[in-house]
Amino acid sequence: MAATQMEQLVSLCKRRGFIFQNSDIYGGLQGVYDYGPLGVELKNNIKAAWWRAMVYERDDVEGLDAAILTNRKVLHYSGHEDTFSDPMVDCRKCKGRFRADQINGVCPNCGSTDLTEPRPFNLMFKTTVGPVVDEDNIAYLRPETAQAIFTQFKNVVDSTSRKLPFGIAQIGKSFRNEITPKNFIFRVREFEQAELEFFVKPGEDEKWHEYWKQARIDWWVAQGLPRDRFRVYDQKPDELAHYAKACSDIEYAFPHGVEELEGIANRRDYDLGNHTKSQEEFNLEAHCHKNPDSTAKLCVRDEENNKWIVPFVIEPSMGIDRAVLAILTEAYNEEDLGGGNSRIVLKLKKHLAPIKIAIVPLKKNSPEIMAKCHELKQSLMKLGIGRVALENTGNIGKAYRRHDEVGTPLCLTVDFETLEQQPETVTLRDRDTMEQIRIATAELPAYLREYFA
Ligand code: GAP
Repeated sequence: MAATQMEQLVSLCKRRGFIFQNSDIYGGLQGVYDYGPLGVELKNNIKAAWWRAMVYERDDVEGLDAAILTNRKVLHYSGHEDTFSDPMVDCRKCKGRFRADQINGVCPNCGSTDLTEPRPFNLMFKTTVGPVVDEDNIAYLRPETAQAIFTQFKNVVDSTSRKLPFGIAQIGKSFRNEITPKNFIFRVREFEQAELEFFVKPGEDEKWHEYWKQARIDWWVAQGLPRDRFRVYDQKPDELAHYAKACSDIEYAFPHGVEELEGIANRRDYDLGNHTKSQEEFNLEAHCHKNPDSTAKLCVRDEENNKWIVPFVIEPSMGIDRAVLAILTEAYNEEDLGGGNSRIVLKLKKHLAPIKIAIVPLKKNSPEIMAKCHELKQSLMKLGIGRVALENTGNIGKAYRRHDEVGTPLCLTVDFETLEQQPETVTLRDRDTMEQIRIATAELPAYLREYFA
């Protein structure tokens, strides 16, 4: 049974060092969170799983890591300066400020219906670059990672000689000044995105949209989300973002409700079209704004008819923070062990677990046992399976519970038998079944390589 209350997750995340409120000792900063010792491991593992599936396992995708600070012109020509806004209303009675589309005309703070008319509120964070603070030096913190993929399109094509279809993948921070950040890390002001912009020939876009829908669903299942816990929602025309021809949302049953985890959009030639110079030379389908500032033609040669074309884009875009929340929700289990005992166990997929193996000494005040634990840790780390932790904070039962709660798949215990008998053996305890096996240390490398393969 997955988590049903956000409180279960918030409490676990703070208690075990997954996620903390940002600036906690000063009362926090709304809509901003920090990832703690185990949160950073989980997040890195999710990012690695995405990068592996989207870049390493394919032959048609390159990576990119672009800057967060973005030239104002990029976000002007992308349409964000004009249209990246939510409708905002103020309550005249309590002075609260809300997204008009989320409150049905009633102030959620005080119940008043005396609200201002909705007005657009641009979600981008503005800053200035250099010592002079004026209009000419305005830059933005990017609101999506996608734009840098479009503006670096020509450099990537020129340096890799890619032909259609091919993609550029990027993982990184994005910033949105959300009017009402809420639901823990679901809607925040600073978050991470993993985005693929997949460039295709116009006319092949619908086929590739279907392909990426299926590929992304399969990826989510491999991360431990059962198919019956998410649904794919095809947006209606009036729900689409300004750039999209179609968009399918992968929605998951979060503790606060069923909401978007990832969007898979058909952006047509909107972005490359807007950022390209000499637009009139191309038969652009999207309605693009004139661009006298761009210095590059963002096009490729269509080898079939030798014409220069602006590719269409299919974009699977997921939020890493929402991925963390969904994966934690799904993995969270409270188990009744009988006899008045219970445990919380995070049934994370092995490749996502923050700690892969906890080495537990039967007695932490035995120098011989501790020396053997250190020796095993050093040798197991060399297997490259991820984090191996030496757990010596409490008694053995507590150590097992602690690691169940953070999703450690295996606890390896060193006891007196380890020291006294030949061949040298240790016990391995499985997180999910709680069963233990005794295994020779000489056999551990092969066993663990296979276990974590
Ligand atoms: N480049 C396309 C794009 O940014 P989006 O639907 O606005 O599309 C993509 O965002 C994904 O980014 C969402 O599905 C969600 O997972 C994540 N995301 C967007 N806004 C977020 C926020 N304020 N907090 C956390 N995640 C967010």
